[in-house]
Amino acid sequence: MKLTCQKELFSLDPAVHYINCAYMAPLLKSVEAAGIEGLLAKRNPQTLDGNSFFETLPKLRSAIAQLIHATDPNQIAIVASASYGLSTAAQNIPCAAGQNVIVVKDEFPSNYYVWERLCKEKGMNLISIAPDENAEDRTANWNEQIIAAINDKTAIVAIENTHWMDGTLFNLAVISERLQQVDGYFIVDGTQSVGILDIDVAALKIDALVCAGYKWLMGPYSIGMAYYSERLLNGKPLEENWIARERSDQFASLTNYTDQYRPGAVRYDVGETSNFILVPMFLEAINQLLNWGVNNMHEYVTQLSRSMLETFKEKGLVVKNENAFSPHLCSIQMPSHVNTETLSAAFASNNVFASVRGTGLRISPNVYNTKDDLDLLEGLILEALKK
Ligand SMILES: Cc1ncc(COP(=O)(O)O)c(C=O)c1O
Repeated sequence: MKLTCQKELFSLDPAVHYINCAYMAPLLKSVEAAGIEGLLAKRNPQTLDGNSFFETLPKLRSAIAQLIHATDPNQIAIVASASYGLSTAAQNIPCAAGQNVIVVKDEFPSNYYVWERLCKEKGMNLISIAPDENAEDRTANWNEQIIAAINDKTAIVAIENTHWMDGTLFNLAVISERLQQVDGYFIVDGTQSVGILDIDVAALKIDALVCAGYKWLMGPYSIGMAYYSERLLNGKPLEENWIARERSDQFASLTNYTDQYRPGAVRYDVGETSNFILVPMFLEAINQLLNWGVNNMHEYVTQLSRSMLETFKEKGLVVKNENAFSPHLCSIQMPSHVNTETLSAAFASNNVFASVRGTGLRISPNVYNTKDDLDLLEGLILEALKK
């Protein structure tokens, strides 16, 4: 299916050119409506009966499982944040002093501090792999360096599909293959890719795929997802949440305590996971992504940004090599003569929204963006180059 612009499904200000999904997705009207319904339900708590705690969560797990090609929806936990899902993984991976954890340079803090702490606590080594800025193909070289760093002391590789700052595409298939040879755990933070770039957790043999929900998954803030492979399913949750135990739906006998958790990754759910506002919103958002189709969304964004990226490549503002980054998230490196304050002012006066991350201007379009949005952005950048 060829997707057309979906802007009418959002409430974006018509005067605004929002090219910043990597910061936060705008709210779909349907997601907003689901949230309002959940909010209003608490006016009359008697309408929130026992079923309300349990009926939407399996639907949400199934929709997420479909999105990431997981066969068992119970391998999905509903978490509060990416850091929550990553901490759960860190707490349950068997590892020992002398082993190492591999991350990439400038990893997002939620996918860094957790491994730094684990390494400190266990006497392990944290290895951060930096890109070679002089390499002919920076992305290919970075991937090669990661693969070369994996050895029989590697307990964990924690990485993203696309680097959050500049969209660098990491070759998850090849990294996974090498990691399997040493029996390491493969942890992926999908916050900046899942929902716009297809991912298959089973094919990639990922042990934990963790995503905050408010960016490419188009959900609200403070809810996210975490998938765990079978070998991580029987671990220790971060908290002992009553809803995660067997028979928790039998309110009259909750103090017949049980050692049994509900099956799979449900034990890793955040407390008060039944959140009557956020859960229906998140479900609505994931269903919309499934309805559009992630590959169709990716194709829309690819076509939309093609000519702009060609221009930027010719001017040396973005990396030229094939497969260096995904068009949903890229970083424009402005030459030093450009006055970035003047450029920021031009963006502000034209209502163009993108983010400065590291040394670049990060742009991240999605299905609500139009050719006009990107033409305006391109024009402002080209203008700034002249000065
Ligand atoms: C790659 C990545 N991971 C995670 C997050 C959010 O982390 P958390 O949900 O722990 O706040 C972000 C936010 O920008 C991100 O870019």
